[in-house]
Amino acid sequence: MDRILIRGGVPLAGEITISGAKNAALPLMAAGLLTEERLVLENVPHLADIGTMAELLAQHGIAVERTGPERRALSLGGRITNTEAPYDIVRKMRASVLVLGPLLARVGEARVSLPGGCAIGTRPVDLHLKGLEQMGARIRLEGGYIDASAAGRLRGANIVLPFASVGATENLLMAAALAEGESVIANAAREPEIADLAACLAAMGARIEGAGSDRIRIEGVARLHGARHAIVPDRIETGTYVCAAAITGGEVHLRGARLAHVGALARILAEAGVDLSETAEGLRARRANGLHGVDVMTEPYPGFPTDMQAQFMALMSVAEGAAMVTETIFENRFMHVPELNRMGARINVHGASAIVRGVKHLSGAPVMATDLRASVSLVLAGLAARGETVVNRVYHLDRGYEAVEQKLAACGARIERLR
Ligand code: EPZ
Repeated sequence: MDRILIRGGVPLAGEITISGAKNAALPLMAAGLLTEERLVLENVPHLADIGTMAELLAQHGIAVERTGPERRALSLGGRITNTEAPYDIVRKMRASVLVLGPLLARVGEARVSLPGGCAIGTRPVDLHLKGLEQMGARIRLEGGYIDASAAGRLRGANIVLPFASVGATENLLMAAALAEGESVIANAAREPEIADLAACLAAMGARIEGAGSDRIRIEGVARLHGARHAIVPDRIETGTYVCAAAITGGEVHLRGARLAHVGALARILAEAGVDLSETAEGLRARRANGLHGVDVMTEPYPGFPTDMQAQFMALMSVAEGAAMVTETIFENRFMHVPELNRMGARINVHGASAIVRGVKHLSGAPVMATDLRASVSLVLAGLAARGETVVNRVYHLDRGYEAVEQKLAACGARIERLR
């Protein structure tokens, strides 16, 4: 298994191009099931999770082909020949469950493995299933699978989500696009990835109002057609590299990054002593002086993202003073804490909150993490630490960060992949 070796202590300086958003690309690929015509997605990052979703679509009969400059476009097309999403693929990537709504809406049946829990929490999909039932789907859980069917077209419904789940909003939005009549999703998730999905569905002929707000109205249509759509830049990759600049006391230009998508993070980082300014082509991140501890709580968008919690904690571990970091979205998302502590951080977890007492220096160590964002927080800590850090289980990073070591090395970081 690959590992990443970092020799810390170099302030980053240079430019990083932000890739297309993984969490927008995955639902957009599932949207390829909604039409028999060709869907072309541009700005698709080269990531392991994209490969997994392509494998799943191939299983359903959809051919997925990389095209265009740097093979950054994905061309999807084909007839649905199989409606089963098998355990072997779903267990690798929970976002596989996003094929459920599109399959049901298009061909009236789907058999999708239940994703089960994962490292960061139990993560049930009950909200996806209840919403689809309200649209007329019959759903049975058997043998670890979701067996779903619909007699004829799904029907539009008024769905009130008890929690603004990102995945449930996406699944229901895709299903409602092809349902008969009007649907309303209230307390919908407002993440930019939802607005991006809705923009692509609209280009395919869907009638959607309010995506990006907490109330989405969809007027179902009988069929959707092909389209071409460019994926939004990755706001979590953006935030991660802002933290990389800040933790090393450097300055980095993030080409393609959008300030509007990292508002909550930008406000917190400004309080902590990190400058973020818009440029003609992206964002500039800079740490001018010292860092200060700032309390933060994760929330659904537009609040502070859970997907930035681990990286922010790495940053706070070298800030002056203390910071309280509270996680409200997932019940087990502090796996980076013991690893950061092995590097000299002083972090105590009390239930859903972690108290981070800043230290002057972290020290390099061999470390390991069990999920994507936890792993990258250890890379950030390694960039700031004295000495050598080896991050194990790099496959977590490869699921969600494109060319992480090349991007950081281009800004002066001493980082390499050990194969
Ligand atoms: C998406 O996951 C992201 N994944 C996650 O990205 C992100 O952490 C999360 O949203 C929150 O922002 C993708 O977009 C592919 P949720 P998702 O449904 O859709 C509970 C990363 O590192 N819930 O909004 O699965 C659930 O257990 C990651 O890139 C139910 O109880 O998130 C969780 O506590 C990991 N029942 C909370 O809601 C349901 O039916 C938020 O989940 C659905 C969710």
